[in-house]
Amino acid sequence: MGVDEQFYREYILDHYKNPRNFGHIEHPTYTHEEDNPLCGDVVGIDLLVKDGVVDDIKFHGRGCAISQASASLLTERIKGMSLDEARTIGKEDVLSELGIDISPARIKCALLSLKVLKAGAWGLGEWPGEEEE
Ligand code: FES
Repeated sequence: MGVDEQFYREYILDHYKNPRNFGHIEHPTYTHEEDNPLCGDVVGIDLLVKDGVVDDIKFHGRGCAISQASASLLTERIKGMSLDEARTIGKEDVLSELGIDISPARIKCALLSLKVLKAGAWGLGEWPGEEEE
């Protein structure tokens, strides 16, 4: 394992053990939850939108380190963004944020939180990792 990979693994574990923006928003503008049908792991996201900007975002869930760390990273990235900007976030952004090569078997773990945003809160209805199957 190279130095970079070691660093990124610790970074992912840190987000897993100390998730940022974890919890619920009392009166969210959007709320949605999805599970990974392969394993039953869950991510849910609450968004509070004010004047077209993501004023607050919280996630909850349970599951593997990749799914939970990826949700934590996504919330950090989106907080304070305009909704339009946040909507442009795609699969590649999420995967590069994790910083390690994600094997095809773990792609759904990595993209579960993005699915919650796309398929749920924004009604785009598409699992971004579908073509990986
Ligand atoms: Fe379930 Fe990763 S093993 S989301």
